[in-house]
Amino acid sequence: MENLLEKIVKDNRSLTKEGKVATYIPELANGNGSALGICVITKDKEIFQAGDFETKFTIQSISKIVSLMYAIKYTGIDTVFKKVSAEPTAYGFNSIVNLEVKNYNKPLNPMINAGAIAVASMLKGTTSNEKFENVLNFIRQICNNNEIQLNEKVYLSEKRTGHRNRSLAHFMRSTNVIEGDVEEILDVYFKLCSIEVTCKDIASIAAMLALDGVLWHNDERIIESHIAKMVKAIMMTCGMYDASGEYAVKVGIPSKSGVGGGILATVPNKMGIGVVGPALDEKGNSIAGIEVLDQLSKELNLSIF
Ligand code: DON
Repeated sequence: MENLLEKIVKDNRSLTKEGKVATYIPELANGNGSALGICVITKDKEIFQAGDFETKFTIQSISKIVSLMYAIKYTGIDTVFKKVSAEPTAYGFNSIVNLEVKNYNKPLNPMINAGAIAVASMLKGTTSNEKFENVLNFIRQICNNNEIQLNEKVYLSEKRTGHRNRSLAHFMRSTNVIEGDVEEILDVYFKLCSIEVTCKDIASIAAMLALDGVLWHNDERIIESHIAKMVKAIMMTCGMYDASGEYAVKVGIPSKSGVGGGILATVPNKMGIGVVGPALDEKGNSIAGIEVLDQLSKELNLSIF
């Protein structure tokens, strides 16, 4: 497997030149656009890594699946889905149009920014810091890694420049999708996006989902099986934003991307995969990362379809 992963990284490395690191959050412009790495954790607890797997990156939108799981676990399915739907969108991840013209002001799904901000408003905790710490500790537990922490520079950079997210949040405050202090809710959201991880960390989260909610490193159940299945279904239909349909046809594995360059991919009952490649395509997905997953999916017949 390690040889196969090395080959796939090598075959796709030149593609990193065709993408660009995200710059709309100024601090992300310092990411390493030529990095490409992968980690696979199998259901038999084997770990395989290749390429620049040690590269650290901010989790960005991949945090949306973790906060969704946490919110469903502690706030309840009904409460969460009263405020956010589970329908794919044809618009970009930070688009505002649907909020006014579709779905009675309810964000279409928890994988786009509006939906994730709504989920952040429902997390367990009395202060914004406690809400963030609760989800951070949840991630640490899933990844068996207490070193995972906030990248303060990315967080401050996003907080300073996050006007589109502010507009989404204020719009949702005006329609009562979110309640309470908008800036505090955004603070939780910005911090969650700025958690720093490696491929192995996101592969661990993916492995837990592949095992329907059981931690691969100690066999402990962390979420109920039906929640894991629901999250994987939402990833398959919405996880790559407005590229989700094409990605389902091409790769066929429930996945979630982030503008830090990570893609988390979970193959039910088989393996969790984490890929990093900070050079992105125009939709905000890792350009080489998608091709790495496409090749791996075809080599190992991983499509769920
Ligand atoms: O809110 C934002 O714009 C970022 N913190 C996260 C967006 C993101 O990762 C979209 N990804 N492809």
